[in-house]
Amino acid sequence: MKILMVCLGNICRSPLAEGIMKTKLPEFFLVDSAGTISMHEGKHPDKRSIKTAAHHHIDISDQTSRQITKADFETFDKIYCMDLSVYKDVISKAGNEEQRRKVSLFMEAAGDVENTEVPDPYWGEMKDFEEVFQLLDRGCEAIKKQILIK
Ligand code: 4NP
Repeated sequence: MKILMVCLGNICRSPLAEGIMKTKLPEFFLVDSAGTISMHEGKHPDKRSIKTAAHHHIDISDQTSRQITKADFETFDKIYCMDLSVYKDVISKAGNEEQRRKVSLFMEAAGDVENTEVPDPYWGEMKDFEEVFQLLDRGCEAIKKQILIK
């Protein structure tokens, strides 16, 4: 099973989602992340995401940002999008119905009834990053259970 977490810049939310999911799943699962824009290509995650993850004993400092590619729709089994705008963008890049079926909204897939989106913390403060971490941790836990039961 190969899982791709996607946000806009691949420096704040999806690196955290990747780091969290990797701690929850056995190592033979491939977990990666990407952004819909190439603006931060090659950069390490935002310092605030690195610090928030480190606070929870997760090291995401080695990750580097990359833009989602057409090949990702072949490689990955599940593509989780952090918000609706990212979801729409990713769906528009999918090549066919089979690829579109791999794409879902992260919070919706996690069965969260209160939140449909993981809010973008980029313009926010450290507390916003911690809130995002908590949302992602709950979501990843729910998704992990679904994946491991199947
Ligand atoms: P992310 O956050 O999508 O969670 O990585 C953002 C990163 C960069 C920008 C916006 C959101 N930006 O406008 O550059």
